[in-house]
Amino acid sequence: MPREATQARTVTVQGVEVPKLGYGTWLVEGEDAYDGVLDALELGYRHVDTARAYGNERWVGRALADSGVPREDVWLTTKVWYEHAEPELLTRVFHQQLADLHVEHVDLLLLHWPAFEVPLRKTLGAMEALRQQGLAAQIGVSNFPSELLREALELAPIFCDQVEFHPYLPQGPVLHECLEHDLLLTAYSPFAHGLVHDDPTLREIGARHGKSAGQVALRWLLDQPNVAAIPKASSHARRAENLDVFDFELDDDERAAVAALSGRRLRTADPDWAPDWD
Ligand SMILES: NC(=O)c1ccc[n+]([C@@H]2O[C@H](COP(=O)([O-])OP(=O)(O)OC[C@H]3O[C@@H](n4cnc5c(N)ncnc54)[C@H](OP(=O)(O)O)[C@@H]3O)[C@@H](O)[C@H]2O)c1
Repeated sequence: MPREATQARTVTVQGVEVPKLGYGTWLVEGEDAYDGVLDALELGYRHVDTARAYGNERWVGRALADSGVPREDVWLTTKVWYEHAEPELLTRVFHQQLADLHVEHVDLLLLHWPAFEVPLRKTLGAMEALRQQGLAAQIGVSNFPSELLREALELAPIFCDQVEFHPYLPQGPVLHECLEHDLLLTAYSPFAHGLVHDDPTLREIGARHGKSAGQVALRWLLDQPNVAAIPKASSHARRAENLDVFDFELDDDERAAVAALSGRRLRTADPDWAPDWD
């Protein structure tokens, strides 16, 4: 892999540049969300991931506003909750989300999970109307396995599928669709919700580069075309560590050793309302 590729901090999808490494805010609430986002922006993160369901949009928005970082320099993703998928409700709640976030538009609006009780055509139609009004620059889905993603692609101009993706969980079919249709694949829970940090293989590879297991996992994800990743961390030191992944390269053997860990097929987010996975 050429050195420029490992140093690139953005990925270009459908002609749009997206910062590859974002700050995830699930389970970060109230003042912690405010402090975390403010600190992340100060450190240099330019991509923030939130959702209605995280209950922190007000604090994320306040941090964005107080950070002094120009709005246009930050990629802001939020998500509509699947129980709000009915068009009128979705539109009403989304306007409240914008107000809570203190922004005039988000860069990416995702349907958080498939909502089987509302036809996808209707939900995506409402999201597309918001896009056409300029309130969401891009729209997309989350937790859509490949077949559902193909369905979504027939209904609306999808930009992204945000799915769980880390060394313990292969995402071949979704990645294939993303490359085929030039979509962003945002890797959520890139540390398998924290489990990769003790992995002996990742640690050993990391030791060769003066890096941690988590940094190796992030480097491996970001080496893949059309992939962004959104790790969450509660401390300044960890947020800084997670951003420090643009100055080393994995070789082919190392990448293959990380990929081999996916035999575990470990999925950390699999709630009752999840779809049938690939
Ligand atoms: N679309 C969806 O349905 C969905 C689902 C899940 C997640 N997400 C998004 O993805 C983001 C990340 O996923 P996640 O929060 O599940 O988990 P994750 O990023 O895979 O892992 C977070 C865990 O790793 C620990 N950690 C972070 N940096 C570390 C470091 N440098 N050294 C040691 N430990 C470290 C964190 O500990 P501390 O926090 O204690 O520092 C936390 O326990 C979420 O915040 C959310 O934005 C989306």
